[in-house]
Amino acid sequence: GKCVWLDADPGHDDATAILLAIHCPNIHLIGLSTVHGNASAGCTEANAARCLCAFGAPERISVYPGATKPLLRPAGYDPEIHGIDGLGGVEGLPNVDNPAVQARLAAGSRAIEGMANAIRGCWKDGEGHKVTIVSSGPMTNVALFVSVYPDLLEGVEEFVFMGGGVGVGNRSAVAEFNILRDPEAAQIVLNVPIRKTMIPLNVTHTAIVTRDVHAQLLSPGHKPDGHPELPRASSNLRHTLSTLITYFADAYRSTFGFHQGPPLHDALTIAYVSQPDLFKCERFRVDVELNGSHTAGETVVDVWNYLPCDNTWGPSGKNCVVAQSLDVKGFFQLLLDCVARCDQV
Ligand code: BDR
Ligand code: CA
Repeated sequence: GKCVWLDADPGHDDATAILLAIHCPNIHLIGLSTVHGNASAGCTEANAARCLCAFGAPERISVYPGATKPLLRPAGYDPEIHGIDGLGGVEGLPNVDNPAVQARLAAGSRAIEGMANAIRGCWKDGEGHKVTIVSSGPMTNVALFVSVYPDLLEGVEEFVFMGGGVGVGNRSAVAEFNILRDPEAAQIVLNVPIRKTMIPLNVTHTAIVTRDVHAQLLSPGHKPDGHPELPRASSNLRHTLSTLITYFADAYRSTFGFHQGPPLHDALTIAYVSQPDLFKCERFRVDVELNGSHTAGETVVDVWNYLPCDNTWGPSGKNCVVAQSLDVKGFFQLLLDCVARCDQV
């Protein structure tokens, strides 16, 4: 499997990314760090540990807490979408004072130190494997990591991040939450001279947890039967995931008018690493608008190749692979398979 480090701000959809990272067959999760974002860093850290326990992560995985604020700007959270603590309405997760959760919290060092050690451990100066760094929140930790440990970039296969949009935003007309929260960090990462893949809103907005998918999450093999009521959860895990989807669906309905269900943004990052052929992609120059009077935090994707760019991944090149579309059925099949596997542990 591919060695993956996940940096997240759980977060309802981040929680599903964590589940996939633990249970996708060809992914070897080597660490999980957390960042400010959907909620305060203290909350996202606790939530990550609660998810690791609830989803049966191997004991070697603990939580590495990272940046509590963006590089330059004040912190800002998203209680409207994720509740005050970042996992509003989610039932059945262990509490933060649960000893198993505490054990996951106590074991980790700081995020960038954890990343560095994990990469050294995998890469072994070229004798071992490269690591894919996946980001499903603001990119503060990743920007700090590449700035503090540039020598370790040779051990990094790729950065994969959920963030941005091509001409569309969700926390302003054109800015997506993860980029808007720390635009300078995102630009730093975009200029790093290794491969990057961006999973933008244009694509994540197609990964909608419809009623049918929700019914199958509750009860595997459930066939659409026209019943207005959802089936009963066939396990505690499935009940937990159902409460997560219900809360997220309500938030997306009231905030954005999504009536078919909520988009599972962050889960697509891990799905991409596990099964890249679920996605169609194209490589472009991508930069972040840092100062626009209307457009701060926008990802500017040069889809018509206006800029003269070389073939490097750095500041002068077409620096980013951008996902264009998703095999939606295939993605939800992967998710349901992972949930079934998670149910066994
Ligand atoms: C992103 O922002 C957060 O609400 C989600 O967790 C996701 O990472 C979507 O814009
Ligand atoms: Ca997130």
